[in-house]
Amino acid sequence: MIAVPDVRVFARPEDVFDAARAEFVARAESALASRGRFDVSFAGGRTPESVYKSLVSAPIDWSRVHVWFGDERCVPPVHADSNFKMANEALLARIAIPAANVHRVRAELAPERAAEEYELELRRALSLAPGAWPRFDLALLGMGPDGHTASLFPGTTALDERARSCVSTWVEKFKAFRVTLTFPVFDHAACVLFLACGADKAPMLARATAARISAETPPSGRVRPLAGQLLWFVDAAARAS
Ligand code: 6PG
Repeated sequence: MIAVPDVRVFARPEDVFDAARAEFVARAESALASRGRFDVSFAGGRTPESVYKSLVSAPIDWSRVHVWFGDERCVPPVHADSNFKMANEALLARIAIPAANVHRVRAELAPERAAEEYELELRRALSLAPGAWPRFDLALLGMGPDGHTASLFPGTTALDERARSCVSTWVEKFKAFRVTLTFPVFDHAACVLFLACGADKAPMLARATAARISAETPPSGRVRPLAGQLLWFVDAAARAS
């Protein structure tokens, strides 16, 4: 049974951030209570960044939280484009999370080497059996105006990856390499939470949140958790189509 998007519309972006913060806290509390650990993957982008900033004050035992990255630009961790840098400045450097629990992509390496190393880190840190997929308690994702999510961009070979958890991918529009987790990883998450705000997202949001997948469905709409929840928290501007 393919997951049907549960789309929740909020009046303003601030309301989206508040709702996402509440969802994050609730899922962290539940995972920490049930299995003593909370594995969450972060997205890049301005919308997720606002949620990270709001989490600085959240009542979470960060000592047992593990932060992963759904994708990363192939730049050093101090580069302005780095998703790690953004998340670190917005949240990670401002909370008591052990450095070993922040699993950044070593994107300063050659792209394919960075992807291979991240796959090994996932397998090691999550104690994955051969053939098993990472199972994040929560995967945060954004959506670009072109319908991409993470660094799964339209027309790229990363969309077809069904064996590896992490790949490097050339993004022609940016003339740059990215490292991204693949569809199977997001589809094995207990909950995928998309965040989308702004009128520029409206055309793709309509296509991404259709109940059925079609040829017009963008990459963001092809994330369909096999057994988990698929949530979209959007503002009114993004929903107006
Ligand atoms: C990236 C992000 C990307 C982002 C969307 C939404 O590395 O670029 O992972 O997938 O989440 O582009 O970004 P905005 O919220 O800034 O529109």
